[in-house]
Amino acid sequence: MRHFLTTLDWSKRELDELLDDAAAHKAARKTRRDLAGKTVALVFFNPSLRTRSSFEIGVFELGGHAVVLEPGKGAWPIEFEDGIVMDGDAEEHVEEVARVLSRYVDLICVRAFPKFVDWNKDREDSVIRSFAKYATVPVINMETITHPCQELAMLLALRERLGTFEKKKFVLTWTYHPKPLNTAVANSALIAAVKMGFDVTLLCPTPEYVLDERYMSVGKVNVVHDPKAAYAGADVVYAKSWGALPYFGRWNEEKPIRDAHKHFIVDEAKMALTSNAFFSHCLPLRRNVKATDAVVSSPRSLVIEEAENRLHVQKAVMVKLCRQ
Ligand code: CP
Repeated sequence: MRHFLTTLDWSKRELDELLDDAAAHKAARKTRRDLAGKTVALVFFNPSLRTRSSFEIGVFELGGHAVVLEPGKGAWPIEFEDGIVMDGDAEEHVEEVARVLSRYVDLICVRAFPKFVDWNKDREDSVIRSFAKYATVPVINMETITHPCQELAMLLALRERLGTFEKKKFVLTWTYHPKPLNTAVANSALIAAVKMGFDVTLLCPTPEYVLDERYMSVGKVNVVHDPKAAYAGADVVYAKSWGALPYFGRWNEEKPIRDAHKHFIVDEAKMALTSNAFFSHCLPLRRNVKATDAVVSSPRSLVIEEAENRLHVQKAVMVKLCRQ
């Protein structure tokens, strides 16, 4: 049985097919019933606007039904350790949760961000992998340490504007944010850009902001710390903030480095160095912190298109997994 946990498990050809399916769903909006009679559990351990809306609406538009569960907030808190004495806050184990939900629904979708204490533990992605271990239906990643649905939405938006990706320069730029954020979208943007054949540059303040080797090693990535060099000739500028992996759990030590790089904001001056690049971001986005008003609202900004595409790519993934 196939899950959609990370696109590292999916070939370029399979991802291209999902994008083709997503484009077909986009063209046929509200006319298809591919999930008629199907049910989906959306399990959220973290907040969401786009993911929750687009999954719930996407299932509805295809004739199915989604149930939203928030463990610890309306649903029982869940234990993930095997063999543990459950005398803490958790009321049930993921083994029962995944097996019971599998008797009710055709798909289980999970959002579970890292704990931000120890990257060596977080990189195991143990929450969603536990669901996949015990579920007897396919599991879809709604953002854990990667965000594969966002990845597809970004690719669909870029494919619609650029056509092909070969030899196009894709810049993934770190931007300032007052808090150390998840690396998931950055990891996913890197996987997607490399797999699809972009010429990929990672712009980040210092070598400590380089992403996990698991994602850096997907293919060739040019690491740059000088914004001017990175933006020069870019066709795509993709912005995201993330916490530096060596400082996991010691965020007060990272803060001075982060604070010294507020000038990594995406602004008109930097965009003027590009080859009339498209700008995008997964949203939510703090305006005039990560990118200026002028950039976010510019005709070259794809943030709204990418967000809309979440709906279409997720339909493609759900239908594909239900038909296997
Ligand atoms: N991009 C994204 O996943 O948005 P939400 O956190 O609002 O779901």
